[in-house]
Amino acid sequence: MYLTKEEERALSGEYGAALQKAYEILVALGEVMDAERLVPIKSAQIAGVSYKNIGDAGLELLNDFASMGAKVKALSTLNPAGMDLERWREMGIEEKFARKQLEIIQAFRRMGVRTTCTCTPYLIGNKPEFGSHVAWSESSAVAFANSILGARTNREGGISALAAAVAGKTPLMGFHLPENRAPKIEVQVKVVVDSVMKASLLGYVVGELSSGEVPLVKGRICASIECLKAFSAAAATSGGLALFHIEGVTAEALKRKKITTTHKERVQVDEEEIRQCLERLSARGEVDLVAIGCPHCTLEEILELARALKGRRVRRDCRFWVFTSREVYSKAAEKGYVKIIEEAGGMVFSDTCMVVAPLDSLGIKRVATNSAKAAHYVPSTIGAEAVLTETTSCIEMALG
Ligand code: F3S
Repeated sequence: MYLTKEEERALSGEYGAALQKAYEILVALGEVMDAERLVPIKSAQIAGVSYKNIGDAGLELLNDFASMGAKVKALSTLNPAGMDLERWREMGIEEKFARKQLEIIQAFRRMGVRTTCTCTPYLIGNKPEFGSHVAWSESSAVAFANSILGARTNREGGISALAAAVAGKTPLMGFHLPENRAPKIEVQVKVVVDSVMKASLLGYVVGELSSGEVPLVKGRICASIECLKAFSAAAATSGGLALFHIEGVTAEALKRKKITTTHKERVQVDEEEIRQCLERLSARGEVDLVAIGCPHCTLEEILELARALKGRRVRRDCRFWVFTSREVYSKAAEKGYVKIIEEAGGMVFSDTCMVVAPLDSLGIKRVATNSAKAAHYVPSTIGAEAVLTETTSCIEMALG
């Protein structure tokens, strides 16, 4: 891989051990993937934040890197942590876990990372422009950045995103190259997708059908931010999709007069595929947790919940938890939405989510969600069944 003189100096350690380490990671990655050179990035989004996922080994690695003097050169935000950083006690998080989690956040802070923990960085100021190069790692955010914003990122690991943040660069390869961004498979959608839950289900089906190829989706698909983030999360979950195009909706599809697939393959999604997918992902029965906010809720979603819960009361034997970023939480609190939800017996948490928090110790049996991604992960991460259903129906299930 070609390196400039400056980059070679950084790699040889002339600018310190931390930058050297970052370059070693990026160069190793670039050489394996045949990258031609490094490219400057506008921002990083770093996963591997929850103590539940990275444990003591991850914490030690972050502390070592921070002690070496690592400092990020690009705007960098974090993925959700294992708890609400302020209200963790109300989530039932143990003191020992909380201490470790706060240490992780502190290590990132020492490196200059903006320690807002969210999978929707594009809602809180980390919103790259069309065509800009970034290094993001949360799968749903990667799919959103590439597809909806038209930014360019590979699906980074936590370490490679952090190395990119410290170097301010990433290897020029994969989805950073225009030739790898063209759609290869066409997906004709024969159902009307007009809600977040349906967009999520469709994303899950499209992810499965695309077999790792970039799809061009055609059909009547709700184009709100809420639907598109749900679609992105689900497509990234079932099929590892980091990029998709939706005719007339996504960034690159809108830029070009006509977007076509480079291969002839065409598949169709009708009612039956959607029904079968729902059947696979969803259990039935009474729930003891309703979890909304995968990916993290927008302000409008919290408003929708507040409106539906106003003057009503969640069952005593059911938790109603909403997850969002700290910035959106503050706005929702200011507008009085949080108060309405909490007066109804619900809770609004920041910095975390139902998948990365250690909820397995709470003895939850069944979780209602409007997210196919959450429904996919809940059985393995918290050992509970998932009921995947519309937002309104999630609310009704909590009210009894
Ligand atoms: Fe975000 Fe957690 Fe879902 S990181 S996309 S809310 S699993």
